[in-house]
Amino acid sequence: MAIQPILRLGDPRLFKVASKVSKFNQPELDSLIEDMFDTMAAENGAGLAAPQIGIGLRVVIFGFDSNPRYPDNDAVPKTILINPTITPLSEEKEDGWEGCLSVPGMRGLVSRYKHIRYSGFNASGATIEVEARGFHARVVQHECDHLDGIIYTQRLSDPLKFGFTEALLNSGQLSSVGCDEQVFVKCDKTAIS
Ligand code: NI
Repeated sequence: MAIQPILRLGDPRLFKVASKVSKFNQPELDSLIEDMFDTMAAENGAGLAAPQIGIGLRVVIFGFDSNPRYPDNDAVPKTILINPTITPLSEEKEDGWEGCLSVPGMRGLVSRYKHIRYSGFNASGATIEVEARGFHARVVQHECDHLDGIIYTQRLSDPLKFGFTEALLNSGQLSSVGCDEQVFVKCDKTAIS
């Protein structure tokens, strides 16, 4: 197990489309996933995509415990999702503030589908199919974007609704922040769920 360095915005590897995983039940895949969980935990992240540690494979992980300080953000079980597909179950979208471990210290307002189904495989190759709403759905959309080389800064609802976490908090645009990076926070005017 090892904590890996996280690529930061500006590194061209973050903008590449990742390749599908073709072999499951492999020690290399298990070791990648272990490194991803170690790295995510070390950074207090809510999710992580393999390209963020320089591995161009379609693997994301996410999951977090519920936090009484942020009752709107329900717990999401720790999930490994490989070769994911996302299907919106409604056209309805909502704005929410996002952060990313590859863009430390910043937040931006992003519009995401409220209700989705995602499917893919776990590390053994078993099928996963889950319906998700709100915050859970947002995290999955954010992480899967990384597999197509898309960072949330390319999806801002308004270029002016983006900046340093501290400045957004001081100016009252952000009401709270869960931890330093990659936790999506509730905003007074645009609640996530
Ligand atoms: Ni991210």
